[in-house]
Amino acid sequence: MVNWQGLINEYTELLPVNENTPRLSLHEGDTPLIRLDTLSEKFEAELYAKVEGVNPTGSFKDRGMVMAVAKAKEAGAHTVICASTGNTSASAAAYASRAGLNTIVVIPEGKIALGKLAQAMMYGAKIVSIEGNFDEALRIVRGIAEKREDITLVNSVNPYRLEGQKTAAFEVVDALGKAPDYLTIPVGNAGNISAYWKGFKEYDEKYACGLPKIYGFQAEGSAAIVRDEIIPQPETIATAIRIGNPASWALAVAARDESGGAIEAVTDEEILEAYELLAGTEGIFAEPGSNASVAGMLRSLRSGRIEKGSTVVTVLTGNGLKDPETAIDQIIQKPKVLPNDEKQIIEYIESISQD
Ligand code: F0G
Repeated sequence: MVNWQGLINEYTELLPVNENTPRLSLHEGDTPLIRLDTLSEKFEAELYAKVEGVNPTGSFKDRGMVMAVAKAKEAGAHTVICASTGNTSASAAAYASRAGLNTIVVIPEGKIALGKLAQAMMYGAKIVSIEGNFDEALRIVRGIAEKREDITLVNSVNPYRLEGQKTAAFEVVDALGKAPDYLTIPVGNAGNISAYWKGFKEYDEKYACGLPKIYGFQAEGSAAIVRDEIIPQPETIATAIRIGNPASWALAVAARDESGGAIEAVTDEEILEAYELLAGTEGIFAEPGSNASVAGMLRSLRSGRIEKGSTVVTVLTGNGLKDPETAIDQIIQKPKVLPNDEKQIIEYIESISQD
């Protein structure tokens, strides 16, 4: 068996790398495309999840970060900087640590999931937690990186991020043997939707594999692109996509329009319903933000907007374990606490094993 060599080695020809680019890797990419058996049967469609939560730091960000950090090192930077709702900071810190670079992250205080904060801390990032939101943090780090040549911005406005992230589209096509009819994807800062579209277009030019319709989903309280206006105080339970002024706005609109797709809003209730349904019926635990795409897919299937018989790939951007607090707070089925009394415990287990 030949071991997967990471994105830079596996896709050298399709990425902007040269002999001076460090072959940085934590074994990112090569994520599973899992058929959603129960939901496919229910909706009479071929439904698949691209499970990005199995990447090294538990989110799709690793695909972009391996490229952005490798290129930063190649260019001689000593520090990478980013604003983040959590996952970007975890990924930047991991890859920078591996590449021997420093990381500075700016995050919105109290609005990042616990697992993501733990990751950034463990990987040794210097963390600045501000009272403002992601959009304000991004404005600040962009300003710093513009002034300092030795500090590289690794948010998705860094073009190498999208280059790395486009590889997920290659993997989807390779797994299916063609492009799906639809791709549903959460939209936050709008980098990933843009990267997928770029990847599908490049692969189609090379292999004539077809193109999907891209359906992006924002959380209702942060649905700037849907409403076509900046949202100064975005809100949603899905903190990963709590963004009111997406940096790749224009690229996302182009992906939507060129593909004949749509960008719509889903409510927090719809996100939580999908979150629980996906874990409870398919055995896949993805974080709330990721489930914006599942919520959108389910709604489109129910309304008939995605037709029966379609092949749909839904992108699960991050691992559910990143946000244990939301899982524990939101799920109605709580652990049953019993005294350490064997008889009582056995009686209780027998009573629940009837169902
Ligand atoms: N899903 C998850 C789990 C995310 O962490 C993000 C973005 C998105 C979806 C949206 O992707 O920004 O490319 O449209 N998280 C960023 C961060 C903003 O800082 O971790 P996007």
